[in-house]
Amino acid sequence: MKYTAYTILACLVTLIACSPAKDNRRGHEYMPDMVHTTGYEANLFDYYYYNRWGTEEEYKKFAMPRTSVPGTVARGDVSLANATDPAERMADMNNFEGLTDGSIAYVPNGSVPYYYADTEPERARATKEIVQNPFPISKQGLEQGKLLYGIYCSICHGDKGDGLGYLLREADPAKGIVAGVYPAAPANFLLDTFVHSNVGRFYHAIMKGRNVMGPYADKLSYVERWDVIHYIRSLEAKAKNLEYSSTLNTLNKEAMPWDPMEAEMKKGMIGMVKDSTANEVAHGDQSTDTPQKMEVHK
Ligand code: HEC
Repeated sequence: MKYTAYTILACLVTLIACSPAKDNRRGHEYMPDMVHTTGYEANLFDYYYYNRWGTEEEYKKFAMPRTSVPGTVARGDVSLANATDPAERMADMNNFEGLTDGSIAYVPNGSVPYYYADTEPERARATKEIVQNPFPISKQGLEQGKLLYGIYCSICHGDKGDGLGYLLREADPAKGIVAGVYPAAPANFLLDTFVHSNVGRFYHAIMKGRNVMGPYADKLSYVERWDVIHYIRSLEAKAKNLEYSSTLNTLNKEAMPWDPMEAEMKKGMIGMVKDSTANEVAHGDQSTDTPQKMEVHK
């Protein structure tokens, strides 16, 4: 009798110990401290009070996503493209290049996020929304753009940007016959539709291509794409007898020439770090009477 009771008890214990989880019920676990690991798992809140050292609140604090360090720049979200105030842009630029005290150079590469899909409505949206070349027009940028344009674009779009690249011209340069050589005529950037188009149309074309033109997102880094676009703009300006250079931009308002900005900076007119609190925190420096000078972008 005694043994029967023990046996029944043992069976019951086993049954209860193994009762399965269902819906909101976790069931009973054998050795729960093995099931609920004491290790913090990112984004997973699994508090089990038997094997926790801290409180539920403390656990939550460790397990939940943390807010980023103040001043963190989300990858690809460089505010450069959005800052309209020149001083702000310069500050951003120097942060971007790691020139400001305490800043870490952001290495722009192909992984900068691009939130537009490869469809025609999205091309239109990108064209409408992306209105600013995030980088000023600099000599180096134009040189780099020219080089890259020569490597990647000119065979189709032509050295002058007129859409008469090598691939097309080869057919019959004298008569300008293009049919049959290449399945579609590359865009002629010198047409008004391109000259007056927002810069997003170019950026989108580089990122996604269009019809028979493949994308160049994997060939050009973030900066390089904008350099190529600067160069295309300079070709357009040339065709229109306007200027798009590091000294002057009479073509459009989408990019600022670098040289006058640099001169202003040298005079100390712009380029101060406006919000010096970030630096103070980083260096424990409490003196605000000497504003931080920007380093010169070269
Ligand atoms: C192999 C040939 C080829 C190369 C190389 C090429 N393209 Fe194109 N591109 C085309 C063709 C063809 C079109 C026309 C596509 C269409 O409208 O169907 C085009 C269209 C475009 C357009 C216009 C898109 C629009 O919105 O209408 C832009 C901008 C452009 N290309 C930029 C570039 C840039 C920048 C490069 C270099 C990084 C480049 N292309 C390299 C063939 C090429």
